[in-house]
Amino acid sequence: MTEPAPSPPPGDADVVAGDPAGSVPSGAAEPDAARPAGRTGVGARVEVTAMAKEYEHDGIKLSVLREVNLVLEPGDMVAVVGASGVGKSTFLQILGTLDLPTSGSIKFDGEEITRFSPTRLAEFRNRKIGFVFQFHHLLPEFTAVENVMMPALIQRVPRRTAEARARDILGRVGLAHRLTHRPSELSGGEQQRVALARAMVLEPALLLADEPTGNLDRKTGTDIHELFLELNRERGSTLLVVTHNPELARLMPRCLRMIDGGRLEPAEASA
Ligand SMILES: Nc1ncnc2c1ncn2[C@@H]1O[C@H](COP(=O)(O)OP(=O)(O)OP(=O)(O)O)[C@@H](O)[C@H]1O
Ligand SMILES: [Mg+2]
Repeated sequence: MTEPAPSPPPGDADVVAGDPAGSVPSGAAEPDAARPAGRTGVGARVEVTAMAKEYEHDGIKLSVLREVNLVLEPGDMVAVVGASGVGKSTFLQILGTLDLPTSGSIKFDGEEITRFSPTRLAEFRNRKIGFVFQFHHLLPEFTAVENVMMPALIQRVPRRTAEARARDILGRVGLAHRLTHRPSELSGGEQQRVALARAMVLEPALLLADEPTGNLDRKTGTDIHELFLELNRERGSTLLVVTHNPELARLMPRCLRMIDGGRLEPAEASA
């Protein structure tokens, strides 16, 4: 399965306007206003039942996922490992509402999201889901801080608040001195940290990561894994990470292996 197009950021495809400044009406509602200071995000409960996915290719049906069942409790941090081609990314994309299952149920805090209209789904995705991919899909023409502000601007968070939050989380990932660099002016590890910051800035209810450090050297990857999990613990997002990286899988409190047909079974953390 291919990853979503590089731009606009994954999950924002339906609503991103080109210019982060231009797309925000002044005086827009402030979704964060009601949050107590120091609030951490609240993870979603996600329940997947008898979920199946078929693709059709050259007129031939390809059954990739036949029976996926999974319950993620709020704040769960779960790794999914498994052989190449078994359907891990397919599963992640469906959970992220970037693709629909052929059958089965996905409940998000008790709500059946597979029945949402495309418009409602796009809004839901922007509000509730964060994505991190191997290839980070940063917008090349925008700076680090603008890239991280983007999800907040899409949600009509006032520009000043969005910028403050973006600066804050970029500081947490060690990039306070790179705020105005464009992606091409950042190292691979720095770009990946910007992508993490962007995915986490709104404290998503569900954070999905597909090989989040797949293209980094081992030391950089390990540092980022630890940072990623630490930030997520603070925020409390429900986290699902697909990876072939045994070190990352070992750091996660729970590890599942996807086997043929998409069944998930408890696994030792050796991808
Ligand atoms: N759009 C599509 N149309 C047809 N077949 C597809 C499509 N997307 C993915 N597939 C097939 O579905 C299967 C599962 O792909 P998927 O990308 O989910 O695997 P994966 O477990 O993530 O593998 P890897 O570990 O290599 O990333 C593969 O055999 C792939 O060829
Ligand atoms: Mg994959």
